Amino acid sequence: MSLVSGPGRAGETSGSLPDELQLTIEPHVRYIQSLDSRRDELEYWLTEHLRLNGLYWGLMALHLMGRPDALPRDETINFVLSCQHENGGFGAAPGHDAHMLYTVSAVQILAMIDALDELERRGKGRALVGSYIAGLQNTRTGTFAGDEFGEEDTRFLYGALNALSLLHMMDAVNVNKAVDYIVSCANFDGGYGVSPGAESHSGQIFTCLAALSIAKRIDLVDVDKLGRWLSERQVECGGLNGRPEKAEDVCYSWWVASSLAMIGRLHWIDGDKLKEFILRCQVCSVSADNSTEINARQDTKMGGFADRPGDMVDVFHTAFGLGGLSLLSFPDLEEVDPV
Ligand code: FPP
Ligand code: ZN
Repeated sequence: MSLVSGPGRAGETSGSLPDELQLTIEPHVRYIQSLDSRRDELEYWLTEHLRLNGLYWGLMALHLMGRPDALPRDETINFVLSCQHENGGFGAAPGHDAHMLYTVSAVQILAMIDALDELERRGKGRALVGSYIAGLQNTRTGTFAGDEFGEEDTRFLYGALNALSLLHMMDAVNVNKAVDYIVSCANFDGGYGVSPGAESHSGQIFTCLAALSIAKRIDLVDVDKLGRWLSERQVECGGLNGRPEKAEDVCYSWWVASSLAMIGRLHWIDGDKLKEFILRCQVCSVSADNSTEINARQDTKMGGFADRPGDMVDVFHTAFGLGGLSLLSFPDLEEVDPV
């Protein structure tokens, strides 16, 4: 997920949404800032459940809300670089093993805050990051492992192409072979799984389509068949599920909707119903006149999005809920790139 640069969305309206379902930016900004507030500087991100990925999700949410400066840039860079290993890869936190997913988050964070040159200045160099990622490609099949232990998953393939494209190092890997591997993951229903023959899952569909988009090979997708399967993910309440018979979850507002956007079929779901579902997943602070209370019965500092209405908020669902709203052209949010 990244922002589309260009003019914002001033002048757009939230359409026919009920009054009580408005997006109130400030509580969500404060929620993300509060994740860092119990300790000095960025130490909070070292905790078990909010590490380098959490920092990426939090920053992404802030950028979507037009508040990129709400976390301190220098401390962000210092923390990211402190997670880097001698081999160029990044761990979840200082001293943690390097892994593809954390390395991708590190590159995405640095790109988002326009700090990739810090890899050269204070890190171990852009080229070493690229060669760490490239070294995880299976040269026989074209897919990627997450780390030296070898587990393979289309998440890692997408992550590799995403990070390498941000680093301008796509030449370091065999893109054609990676594309062939994704094609081999396509199922009869039009979807994609973690590996050839694995069940179609919206998260994995996102990774495969995003990888194909980066490789400029979206032409290889059966868009009508896949678009139909993806649009069937919308359930009665307006939310989306990840596969048939599963419960709706706000993060699929990103995985499914961005997949539909990548194949030009976002209009095949009911965007207004999805917006309402996403907004019902937010927890908003209570204003002075008590007028913006939304799901505020929870014992939290207020702000943030949960997987579904009434559940506890977390930074992952906050980022992907906002990402879904942005894809649906929600006013007051920056425009997001589906890849
Ligand atoms: C739950 O699966 C999994 C998710 C909600 C995340 C899905 C997203 C991805 C696989 C893409 C991740 C991409 C990167 C780059 C990390 P489940 O089977 O437990 O949940 P279900 O019941 O909703 O199917
Ligand atoms: Zn979820």
